[in-house]
Amino acid sequence: MKSASEYQKVCVIGLGYIGLPTASLLATKGFEVVGVDISQKVVNTINQGEIHIVEPDLDILVKSAVHSGNLSASLEPCEADVFIIAVPTPFKDGGPDHISGKKPDLSYIDSATKKISPYIKAGDLVILESTSPVGTTDEVVAKILKQAGHAIGENVFVSHCPERVLPGRILIELVENDRVVGGINEESTKVTVNFYERFVRGAVLATTAKTAEMVKLTENSSRDVQIAFANELSMICETENIDTWEVIELANRHPRVNILNPGPGVGGHCIAVDPWFIVDRSPEVSKLIRTAREVNDAKPEWVINRVVHCANKFKDPIIACLGLAFKADVDDLRESPAYNIAKEIQRKEIGRLIVCEPNLDDHCEFDLYELDDVIEQADIILLLVDHKIFNRCKASDLREKLVIDTRGIIR
Ligand SMILES: NC(=O)c1ccc[n+]([C@@H]2O[C@H](COP(=O)([O-])OP(=O)(O)OC[C@H]3O[C@@H](n4cnc5c(N)ncnc54)[C@H](O)[C@@H]3O)[C@@H](O)[C@H]2O)c1
Repeated sequence: MKSASEYQKVCVIGLGYIGLPTASLLATKGFEVVGVDISQKVVNTINQGEIHIVEPDLDILVKSAVHSGNLSASLEPCEADVFIIAVPTPFKDGGPDHISGKKPDLSYIDSATKKISPYIKAGDLVILESTSPVGTTDEVVAKILKQAGHAIGENVFVSHCPERVLPGRILIELVENDRVVGGINEESTKVTVNFYERFVRGAVLATTAKTAEMVKLTENSSRDVQIAFANELSMICETENIDTWEVIELANRHPRVNILNPGPGVGGHCIAVDPWFIVDRSPEVSKLIRTAREVNDAKPEWVINRVVHCANKFKDPIIACLGLAFKADVDDLRESPAYNIAKEIQRKEIGRLIVCEPNLDDHCEFDLYELDDVIEQADIILLLVDHKIFNRCKASDLREKLVIDTRGIIR
């Protein structure tokens, strides 16, 4: 094993929402970092000191990291002391099957591991940061490297360290959050803990690879189940003609009750995806987790039915969708219920659709409008995302509109 300070050159595979902030943070902390991506456009953008994603202060960090000479981007990996894999882990296309739900797509991890394999040498550390089904670090990453002839666990160390940052606060949370580190053996855990302790201010908590994988999936599944409760409650309250938000506010005055906020569904590449990784491996004993996924996945259709109901009151309704992103104040549309609802309104031709998404300059499927324009033009206002700017919408200004507020913004 090398000493901690010998783990100085880092190769980060995948330069998206996780990989790029991690690479630039490490570079500004004095590590020599090469970021690798399959997209030439991403590589070019970063090498110019620019960014391709929206995240507060990331532009400043990347510029300074690139200008310092500590960060460069490339299509190809290179020799390094530490390899961090931060590639996507979506599920495979197609609906859930009856037994095991949606299937994880591990092809990105597979291909990233094969790509770094020729550059790995004795003493190196490989860290899987991508959110992964239990067993992936051992059964995919370590296995591929072993098959390529590396002495895994002996002089090449392999660990999982899941990322738990919140988009919009990534640069703060990368440093401040506690991290869970699990190696495929004790040596791997030790080397990995030493590495993170050099730039993380939160606690670095040691465990096994499988436990670390399960911890991350548990965090997101727990949120999903709690949001499913809020979403189910919102549908019950609407059926009963009761204000959901008032019910939640009053119920939460109980000292041991804390109901989350409902919404148009659950989106993003984490909470809407990761619970399936548990269901896929343990279908017989993950019934609640699966049902929660199904409740949350069904909520967009409920919202669309409400839009149809309102639209029937007009001859040629103009429907304004406020927000496309999967959550507040980000530009990320992955698995976004808001985006899927807007698309469905368009596909079903329920009315003329106008969209306001303040975090995007343009969109290939929708014409985007300013907030004031959509409010002025629309007959039906469909609030889908609680972006800060939408707090400007006051009930008193929308008296002549039909408002469907899935986020409880307009009170
Ligand atoms: N974004 C988040 O907030 C967040 C939070 C926690 C965990 N995660 C997890 O982190 C992982 C990465 O997520 P992300 O949001 O950064 O994804 P992303 O899509 O923003 O970025 C992934 C990048 O990897 C690149 N890529 C794909 N295959 C590659 C390969 N073989 N070699 C090199 N580059 C490759 C893509 O071009 C892309 O730029 C996922 O497992 C995700 O679930 C994300």
